[in-house]
Amino acid sequence: MKIIIINGPNLNLLGKREKNIYGDLSFEEFFRILEEKYPKVELSHFQSNIEGELIDKIQEVGFTYDGIILNAAAYTHTSVGIGDAVKAITTPTIEVHISNTFGREEFRHHSYISAAAKGVILGFGLQSYELALQSFL
Ligand code: DQA
Repeated sequence: MKIIIINGPNLNLLGKREKNIYGDLSFEEFFRILEEKYPKVELSHFQSNIEGELIDKIQEVGFTYDGIILNAAAYTHTSVGIGDAVKAITTPTIEVHISNTFGREEFRHHSYISAAAKGVILGFGLQSYELALQSFL
């Protein structure tokens, strides 16, 4: 099973950024733990701070992979383009967020991705990614 985690802007700063919200583990550290825990899954990850690069990656994997776990970060709330990319592909996509976006500022309550996603998992810290992975398994 081929699964990719796609992370949007500022998620390269996990472990350094607003630790009270996002925790103190870097994504690379977390990813290594996931790989060890799920050795049978062909797991990869991609991060970009650039909207178009995220769209390119979604298009690239979106007709052949078994699943996409997408945390589009701030673009979740602004990007019609990423929402359209998720609608355009055939690979099921699960939207994830580390924080509970509904408990935060109002602008984080809307997502351009949710309507096209297979499901949404949010508010469980980095475990949100693992729950999404388990749902594919
Ligand atoms: C986030 C929530 C977004 O609102 C925010 O812009 C992020 C991270 C999360 O994982 O909780 O960068 O997607």
